[in-house]
Amino acid sequence: MSTDSANTPASIPVLTIDGPSGSGKGTISRLVARELGWHYLDSGALYRAIGVAAGWADLDLADPASLVRCAFDTDISFREQGDELLVLVNGTDATTELRTETAGAAASAIAAIPEVRSALKARQRDFRQAPGLVADGRDMGTVIFPDAAHKVFLTASADERAERRYKQLKDKGVPVTLAGLLREILARDARDANRAVAPLRPAHDAVCIDTTGIGIDEVVQRVLGTMQGQVP
Ligand code: DC
Repeated sequence: MSTDSANTPASIPVLTIDGPSGSGKGTISRLVARELGWHYLDSGALYRAIGVAAGWADLDLADPASLVRCAFDTDISFREQGDELLVLVNGTDATTELRTETAGAAASAIAAIPEVRSALKARQRDFRQAPGLVADGRDMGTVIFPDAAHKVFLTASADERAERRYKQLKDKGVPVTLAGLLREILARDARDANRAVAPLRPAHDAVCIDTTGIGIDEVVQRVLGTMQGQVP
């Protein structure tokens, strides 16, 4: 076992839900966590928060050293508010800014820096608290919680993912176009899947679920079903 996983409380169960942008991970993971009464880690929010903090500090996305410092120094906390999960970056509510495509693209670029990923490892593992954790991201099952008992990989067609994102952002009043979102999603998929460190891919022991054309409640049931050993 690697030294950086030596302190993780291995007895606390983890369900990892990985997948590309817009695959429904966030919504599904939160609902599954609520259903199980487990904690929830939105690992993408950590990368987005570093992206936003870097933007506020006017850091150059091509300067890895300053981004690594930013990853160590930025205070990130989560607060439940009704159905919403607020993200505070250095004490300021950055929830809306975090969800923009600009923040997503910055997060994706920053996430390709190995030292940034290392800097965020311990923070992510700290979320493993009793009675259990649902961890949502790209490398939850492969790198952060490789010993997780339950692993799911969600996919959906790029068109459907772009449409879902479009509806989400429109509802939040964020100005976007469907064609622009599809372009950004494809570019982000390519960057996340092709980076040298922790590329987006299913863990060898993950159950893959294609959510194209399937409603949220049905996906939640299928994910819960995989924990009982059911084939989705
Ligand atoms: O899940 P998301 O769209 O909020 O993630 C934003 C970016 O952060 C995504 O493009 C890649 C990166 N990311 C990552 O590299 N590893 C994770 N575990 C989560 C997100």
